[in-house]
Formats: sequence, C-alpha cells, structure tokens
Amino acid sequence: MENNEILRVENLTIKTKTFELLHDSSFSTNKSQIVLIQGANGSGKTSILKAIMGFHERKVSIDSCKVFYKGELINHNNINEFRKKIAYVEQEDFFTARTPYEYVKQSLLLSRNPNEKIIRSKLKETVASDEEKIVNLFKHFHKESIMFKRFSTPLSGGELRITSLMAAFIRDSDLYILDEPINKLDYKTAAIVGNYISDLSARGASVLVITHCRMFMKSDKAYEIYENTLKKLEKVPLPCRQ
Ligand SMILES: Nc1ncnc2c1ncn2[C@@H]1O[C@H](COP(=O)(O)OP(=O)(O)OP(=O)(O)O)[C@@H](O)[C@H]1O
Ligand SMILES: [Mg+2]
Repeated sequence: MENNEILRVENLTIKTKTFELLHDSSFSTNKSQIVLIQGANGSGKTSILKAIMGFHERKVSIDSCKVFYKGELINHNNINEFRKKIAYVEQEDFFTARTPYEYVKQSLLLSRNPNEKIIRSKLKETVASDEEKIVNLFKHFHKESIMFKRFSTPLSGGELRITSLMAAFIRDSDLYILDEPINKLDYKTAAIVGNYISDLSARGASVLVITHCRMFMKSDKAYEIYENTLKKLEKVPLPCRQ
C-alpha cells in the first residue's frame, strides 16, 4: 500500500438476480486526489458507491470484494466507524431532519458520535463554534435563505442537492464520496461546489466523485466503466468549460 492511499477497492463484482453488473473491478484513491468515475446511465456507478458503503440492496450480491480505508480492511465490525468518518453524498436526496440547518448540524454531530439518541438531545444545544461553522458554510454557498425553511415547504431540487452537499462538507473528513454532486445545481452554485472540491483536495482530502458534467470538476485520476469493468483512463479528462 502506498502510504498516502486512502481508499482501495479490490475485486469488486456486483451481481443482480439476473445479470452481472460489474466484473472484478479494482481502484484506489490517494490523499489530495480527486478521482473521477464515469460511465453511461445504468452502467453501475451508483452501485459501486453503495457497495463500498455497504448500502447495497440485499438482492444484489457482492462477491469477494475487499475495501480498505487507510490500509484497514472494512468488515461488519468496523463499517459503522468507517461510515462515521467519511462524508458520503448519495445520488438521491433524503433527509432525516426538519430544516437544512438541522440536517447539516446533525451530520456534523454524527461525524463525532454515531449514537442517534445523543444526537437528538445535542441538536438543541448551542455550541458557538459549531453554529459559526454551519452558518459560514451556508453563506459560502449563498444559501442563508434556506437555512431554516422546512423541508416540507417544499424546497426545490437544487436547494435539496446543495443541502446534501453541505451536510457532507461540514464533516472534517479525509474521504469525500460524491454521487453526481452538481446534478440539479445552477451554473453559479455548481462552480462554487467545483472550487470547494478542489480546495478539499488541496487541503489533503481524497475525493471520489461521479459526474456526467465535468464542466467544473478537475480530476487527478479517472476510471470509466466499459463493458462491465472499471478501467483506469490513461489520460485524465480535462474539465470541459463552455
Ligand atoms: N437490485 C437490483 N436488481 C436489479 N437491477 C438492479 C438492482 N440494482 C441496480 N440495478 C440495475 O443496475 C444498473 C446500474 O444502476 P446504477 O444506479 O448503479 O447506475 P448508474 O451508473 O449510477 O446510472 P446513472 O448514471 O443513471 O445514475 C441499472 O440498470 C439498475 O436498474
Ligand atoms: Mg447513478
């Protein structure tokens, strides 16, 4: 293992009841790297991330795959600790709080302690440094106006997307896993997100990202799903700018 390796996935095969979605695929990410996974709709990108997180459906089988986080093999004993440490944004937005502010705060607290009962009581506590960190993040993305709106309002698709991202970005993590982060975002917000991701990698984090839109996304390494296998691209695609 290279000592700056953060995530390594070995021999991932994903099968559904009727077909093999991904065959014997391996990849890794290093410190300070943005690693891109691309592929056609339905090629299995989201399924790869779910398999890493252990969130795949029961009817999907994952054969003989090994996931290492900073050299440590992830298994059922340490997977909750792994989920607590990393920042993962799913393709679909899903919220377990009343407002974006509360959801982002919950994510911050969960990254320190995964006990949900403790989190519920701590949500009412006010710690000045945390409040400042959360408010500054909303300001950074020019989203102060949605902080205390109820999800039931309802919020727009882009507002929900940026809330999911902020809940990941509030975490001080060395691994960010982002499934279509700028999907649904307006041009200006997507550009801020692209820059934010670059800053995360400049600060030493490893970012694994799936995107169809590379307009704002620089990357250091790229893989593509081709004929059911993940292949490393010889040339990293340049961000395409309009
Ligand atoms: N449990 C399952 N049973 C049957 N098929 C499944 C199951 N889970 C996923 N699939 C199929 O696997 C394929 C890959 O899905 P996945 O969501 O990983 O694709 P994707 O590459 O992320 O696509 P997109 O770019 O549209 O987000 C899809 O055709 C999906 O229908
Ligand atoms: Mg997907």
